[in-house]
Amino acid sequence: MPRQQDDIQQILWANKLQIETLLKQLLTEADADIAGLQGAMAYGAAEGGKRLRGFLLMQAARLAGADEGNALHAAAALEMVHGYSLIHDDLPAMDDDSIRHGKPCTHLAFDEATAILAGDGLLTFAFDILSRAETHADSAVRLSLVRILAHSAGHKGMAGGQYLDMQAEGKTLDEAGILRLQSLKTGALFEASLQMGARLGNPSDKMLQELQAYGQKIGLAFQICDDLLDVVGDEGQMGKKIGKDIAQGKASFLAINTVEKARQKAYDLQNEASQHIVALTGHKQHVLIKLADFVVNRIS
Ligand code: IPE
Ligand code: IPE
Ligand code: MG
Ligand code: MG
Ligand code: MG
Repeated sequence: MPRQQDDIQQILWANKLQIETLLKQLLTEADADIAGLQGAMAYGAAEGGKRLRGFLLMQAARLAGADEGNALHAAAALEMVHGYSLIHDDLPAMDDDSIRHGKPCTHLAFDEATAILAGDGLLTFAFDILSRAETHADSAVRLSLVRILAHSAGHKGMAGGQYLDMQAEGKTLDEAGILRLQSLKTGALFEASLQMGARLGNPSDKMLQELQAYGQKIGLAFQICDDLLDVVGDEGQMGKKIGKDIAQGKASFLAINTVEKARQKAYDLQNEASQHIVALTGHKQHVLIKLADFVVNRIS
């Protein structure tokens, strides 16, 4: 593994531990009769995964001079929304998956109704967390975070993208159609993570613009690589089944492109994304540039 990847893996790991510690804390102390539901929420969202969206949020917050404790709370909220999206994505009515984060999907470890409710619980709890003073002392800032997350997770963002993904099963979309689907189902939350982090501090207009452009490119690169890894990845490393996109007739980037073309597109997006961070920070080795490299060269 190249040294740069080693480096970023360690940084990501430390960040993941921080986020998961808070997630677990937030998901304790339920009344006995709903402890089972909360257990399913923790199972689906507090253990496992790379925590990339939370990481992006925290790095943008750092760039904007925000408080780290605030950023951690916002990152936990964002990762709850991500966790909910995976629990629902794996349901029989959607991708009908069996393994996530190297263990049975939530609807198999519990049952389908509990998995649906765990997703509902996580999505709503995220906004509870964002509304708290621990996320920011200023209610106007909290409101702007609520708005960004609501918009990016809703029908004009992730939920809309998931709808397009399901509608496109068995159909052939052109590349523009696939990129639109991907920018909604995945890109929207990546962009939101950077905007939320920046809004916790004092971002300049330039910072918001560069981070927005970086988030858009990195989100697309991420989903193209997810599609790529569904073809060439390793199930053990990925912690999820592979080879399912083609089998289910998904409008994946690989449905209309070769592996080489997909790789090239991801590298192009990585380069473009990195330019925005250089323009913003002047640093060619900035951690967000290392993250872009990780996103396109990852194996998990
Ligand atoms: C998986 O996202 C869902 C997609 C948008 C492709 P991640 O790869 O970031 O999920 P984690 O790391 O397992 O949580
Ligand atoms: C899922 O995309 C995107 C969201 C959960 C919003 P995929 O269906 O490709 O994700 P994986 O491959 O199951 O992780
Ligand atoms: Mg899916
Ligand atoms: Mg899926
Ligand atoms: Mg996938």
